[in-house]
Amino acid sequence: MAIYVITGANRGIGYEYCRQLKERGDTAIAVCRTPSNELKKLGVQVETGIDITSDQSVADLTDRFDGLEIDVLINNAGILQRNTLENLDFESIRQQFEVNALGTLRVTQALLPNLHSDSKVIIMTSRMGSIADNTSGGSYGYRMSKVAVSMAGKSLSHDLKPRGISVGILHPGLVSTRMTGFTSGGITPETSVNGLLERIDALTLETTGTFWHANGEVLPW
Ligand SMILES: NC(=O)c1ccc[n+]([C@@H]2O[C@H](COP(=O)([O-])OP(=O)(O)OC[C@H]3O[C@@H](n4cnc5c(N)ncnc54)[C@H](OP(=O)(O)O)[C@@H]3O)[C@@H](O)[C@H]2O)c1
Repeated sequence: MAIYVITGANRGIGYEYCRQLKERGDTAIAVCRTPSNELKKLGVQVETGIDITSDQSVADLTDRFDGLEIDVLINNAGILQRNTLENLDFESIRQQFEVNALGTLRVTQALLPNLHSDSKVIIMTSRMGSIADNTSGGSYGYRMSKVAVSMAGKSLSHDLKPRGISVGILHPGLVSTRMTGFTSGGITPETSVNGLLERIDALTLETTGTFWHANGEVLPW
């Protein structure tokens, strides 16, 4: 039984991580700003009031986790806002960097003392942050912030390898959640997290720093 900490755990993919981890007998610690009723009913430890863009908020989280050994940190919280070239909103682009890139790095750095040799750090990035896979343009803030967080994941994989900590950089697929307007073209959070947990379970120091689709495909940078 391992201890998993999941950010953005009140809904979507983050909630589903908590649900499946609990179901299989692991300990899921759900981190969020405001818990959903669904999460409150799940029966896992919930840490509320944590905004990953706030130094103070994340410092508060480290206080609460003082002495806790984390086996897997899943950086899942993220935002998607549509930015077209015709209608660029730099505040929106900046906000996506704050959450997707800086927020993820802030939480990871803050919780490093809680990680041990054999721990894993997961970066939930997106295929939309793959330069090679960008065939349609647009989504400036989301794409740019996800490239940035993937790069952070790659650097973390090098920096943390000597400490025995592996890093997985994962794309969940197109998933039907609030982020995608519950698109009918997407897979369910259940299917996505099934695959994501397979990738996380299989992650080792030999495969650290690889960019995977939940379905097992290695994605191009
Ligand atoms: N769905 C997809 O197809 C897809 C594809 C590729 C990658 N992803 C990535 O997968 C991850 C989860 O996506 P999802 O589809 O489950 O999205 P979602 O349903 O929109 O959930 C996003 C989560 O992030 C949290 N969050 C946003 N800003 C935050 C902040 N400043 N501080 C703390 N938490 C914050 C949200 O909390 P609140 O409820 O408080 O806003 C929510 O719990 C994201 O990183 C996303 O970029 C998703």
